[in-house]
Amino acid sequence: MNGKLTFGDKSIDLPIIEGTEKEKAIDIGKLRSTTGLITLDSGYSNTGSAKSKITYLNGEEGILRHRGYRIEDLALNCTFLEVAYLVIFGDLPSKEKLDNFSERVMRHALIDERIKDVFKAFPLATHPMALLEATTVALSAFYSSSEVYGKDTKDDLERNIFRLLGKLPSLVAYSYKKKRGLPYAYPNTDLNYVENFLQMVFNVPTRKYNSNPLFREAIEKLLILHVDHELNCSTSTVRMIGSSEANLYSSISGGISALSGALHGGANQAVLEMLEQIYQQGGNIKMFIERAKDKNDSFKLMGFGHRVYKNFDPRAVIVKDLCRTILKEQAENNPLFDLALELEEQALQDSYFQERKLYPNIDFYSGLIYKAMGFSNDMFTALFVVGRLPGWIAHWVEMRNDPHSRIDRPRQVYTGATERKFTPIKERS
Ligand code: CMC
Repeated sequence: MNGKLTFGDKSIDLPIIEGTEKEKAIDIGKLRSTTGLITLDSGYSNTGSAKSKITYLNGEEGILRHRGYRIEDLALNCTFLEVAYLVIFGDLPSKEKLDNFSERVMRHALIDERIKDVFKAFPLATHPMALLEATTVALSAFYSSSEVYGKDTKDDLERNIFRLLGKLPSLVAYSYKKKRGLPYAYPNTDLNYVENFLQMVFNVPTRKYNSNPLFREAIEKLLILHVDHELNCSTSTVRMIGSSEANLYSSISGGISALSGALHGGANQAVLEMLEQIYQQGGNIKMFIERAKDKNDSFKLMGFGHRVYKNFDPRAVIVKDLCRTILKEQAENNPLFDLALELEEQALQDSYFQERKLYPNIDFYSGLIYKAMGFSNDMFTALFVVGRLPGWIAHWVEMRNDPHSRIDRPRQVYTGATERKFTPIKERS
């Protein structure tokens, strides 16, 4: 099937590409060479930058599937590493394959002792996301055998995938301990991925740490829910950096930076801060909803709205249930959860949010769970990083293995000054 585009006296036939779920795209590969036109698409709302086999997302119907499997089934039945294997290698692993994969990942959990010096060099109050950005890219200096920066061999690449999956939770745990001046806990490879992560975060030498099984299960689920989300801002960043043949560590570090923003992964921290602010100021939800609607006020309802979900975010539904279960276990009334429920209800009844199809997203309730487990607000986005890592890796590998992949290089419509006569500095006023 072709589409026809007419511009002045020129006309061009453009092929229509159809995905496996019948989604259609117009291939504009010949547009500029034939017509001189480029496309302008702020925020890339209408632009597909890759063909991908990893994740299918239908925002109108609230569908999310990884490699064909529904997120609801994966969250209910799998471990995080099982889903990581699925997105990276394409199929669910057998028991034997999963054991082997887990063993290889866990083998790499230990970090070169000199990385501690990198942590030491940062001020105590450094945000964990800044530490993660810096130390992830620092790993490339420690764990790459290549003499050419970025040019890893195939063996290196495979090992780097395991290294990153193994070491990232250790970096997150170090970030947590650093801020508190506590000694870093070494990984314990007798434990599974999640148990080991929790012990690295919360274990201190003076007290034996036993993780709460309910918390382990909740973290497992939350990590799964964050695994991939097709070409979101951070994943596109990872692919874009990798398209220049930059190495995996640099690309992932770029993804972490992109994720840190409050409109993306940073929203989970921002939601909790917003709930705390509303609570501390007397809990006047109506007033904050009015503020969120006011275009002259920079206040937004954090954890609300999504570029692609225009009905509901299937991940948010699971997180809300999980939040209820965790908070019930704590037996105390949680005023922030009650406030969040009330805020959600009032916003969903408001025509402003209805007309714009703004619903709670995954970040609306996740921070409440992390907080209940003992994580500080500034750790929430770092937890998102651990969950999203397999998705970033899967996309990076897919992009690099695609024989048609080219360096990403968008164009622009220039709106600056036209040519000006140069004035030497002495003659400028
Ligand atoms: N509160 C109030 N108004 C909003 C909100 C909000 N949270 N989100 C969108 N709007 C309004 C926006 O002002 C615009 O109004 P109008 O049409 O009158 O100009 C309309 O809704 C459309 O919004 P948009 O900003 O054009 O939508 P977008 O697709 O560019 O942005 C978003 C999506 C998620 C960045 C945005 O909804 C937002 O800022 N939400 C709060 C931050 C947040 O929760 N981010 C986490 C996203 S989920 C986790 C992840 O994957 O990153």
